[in-house]
Amino acid sequence: MIQYISTRGGQAPVNFDEAVLRGFAGDGGLFVPQTIPKISRDRLKALSGLAYTDLAFEILSLFIDPGIISKKELARLIDKSFAGFEHPDILPLKPLGTDPSVLIMELFHGPTLSFKDIAMGFLINTMEYLLEKRGEHLTLVLATTGDTGPAAAHAAAGKKTIDCWPLYPKGMITREQERQMTTLEAANVHPVGVENCPDGGDDIDLVVARLFADPALKQRLNLSSVNSINWCRVMVQSIHYFYGYFQACDAIGDPIVFSVPSGACGNLFAGHLARAMGLPITGFICANNANKTLHTAFSTGVFKKEDLQQTLSSAIDIVVPYNFWRFLYFTTGCDPKKISTWMDQFQKTGEIRLDPASAAAIGNQVASVSISDAQTLDTIKSTFTKKDPYLLDPHGAVAVAAAAALKNTYSPDTRIICLATAHPAKFPQIMTKALGTDLPDQAFHPSLIRSSTLCQHLRTCECDHLESALVHAMDQVAQKKRDPWLIIHT
Ligand SMILES: Cc1ncc(COP(=O)(O)O)c(C=O)c1O
Repeated sequence: MIQYISTRGGQAPVNFDEAVLRGFAGDGGLFVPQTIPKISRDRLKALSGLAYTDLAFEILSLFIDPGIISKKELARLIDKSFAGFEHPDILPLKPLGTDPSVLIMELFHGPTLSFKDIAMGFLINTMEYLLEKRGEHLTLVLATTGDTGPAAAHAAAGKKTIDCWPLYPKGMITREQERQMTTLEAANVHPVGVENCPDGGDDIDLVVARLFADPALKQRLNLSSVNSINWCRVMVQSIHYFYGYFQACDAIGDPIVFSVPSGACGNLFAGHLARAMGLPITGFICANNANKTLHTAFSTGVFKKEDLQQTLSSAIDIVVPYNFWRFLYFTTGCDPKKISTWMDQFQKTGEIRLDPASAAAIGNQVASVSISDAQTLDTIKSTFTKKDPYLLDPHGAVAVAAAAALKNTYSPDTRIICLATAHPAKFPQIMTKALGTDLPDQAFHPSLIRSSTLCQHLRTCECDHLESALVHAMDQVAQKKRDPWLIIHT
């Protein structure tokens, strides 16, 4: 039976349901499987012809004990979670212009038009299933840089066993992203725009971490997280690396690299997980914008928190990529003592300097580059004005620019799959900056046009008061649930 332990080692192994419902490990670490399941070459061949949802079933079966979620239930949860995707292939792979060595994998065909939908639907449907079985209710609190919040809000909307609190840095996400959360008519979804957070989503992450560190509050509200802290998110995201590889290769073993626009490192770690399971991915490109904590770590072995820079690829404006700890855990020998020491030091000083062996271990796994806003705009413009125009969102553009920067370091027969993680329609101002005001049809999406015609439920709070204000509001909602007729005077 596969069990889950903490990267810090301070917690007894738990089953899949506990890891998913708790989100954070109790000792401040992140849940990881005790061992990574392996897939043989022959098995990979057999999997390579499967449709996405069938492949998802096979991969997820390796991580989820059938005693906790039966095979039949797992198949039902997968079908339900991907039914709302608008493309028949779910995650289509497309050529980018005429260069056969660079491909685009579109990860944004879910209900809120970003790759967050891929894992969020399954995670929240799974939570609902487990909560119903236990007769429990969960309060989800999450910080968002613009895409996780809408994905969680949509997946949670209307679920009786869940209240969902997406917290976003007000003014630092696009109006379209804000509307995706605030125009939902769902009494169990409570988005909060947080004012005055200089470090954006990272400031909110700190508040969320403090809430989780309060055992009484955690128990009273049954708090959990659906950020990529939650193991289920990275587990589900590993599937698209298998799917992309199978679509792009002629035979298992062909040289294939993934270029991944990276913020909290969840998606990149999911790729690493797929490779650790046996998928022969040649390499990864960690594509950062000007917030280059990961690039610095992979290229120098120094993991250091820098000041946040606001960029055009705002969803990856992140200075503390928390999934890096999972990456470090698996690449430096699965030693929880090492991770604990590094995490404590990072918390105290905002910096760790890896020993040469550990620095080499991570540097060998991932190439990296930091892409400027000017390069992002140039990439959007040049890929759209080429012979076969393709409109990239700013995050996909960061991945494509990074692939162009590092392409010559790979053998000529290598194919690079660039992950397009959001639909360009979520970023109209940036599209206008790159292409001018006469935007093409690809820069629009009917769901966003519709949300611009609806009322918004706006709730805001100063970052300095977020912790106490949130506890107050969450307690009130919980009280109201117990007594719907209650009028609360504050
Ligand atoms: C559009 C988009 N691209 C890329 C990322 C980065 O993913 P991760 O945080 O898993 O590195 C995010 C989320 O933060 C995102 O919303």
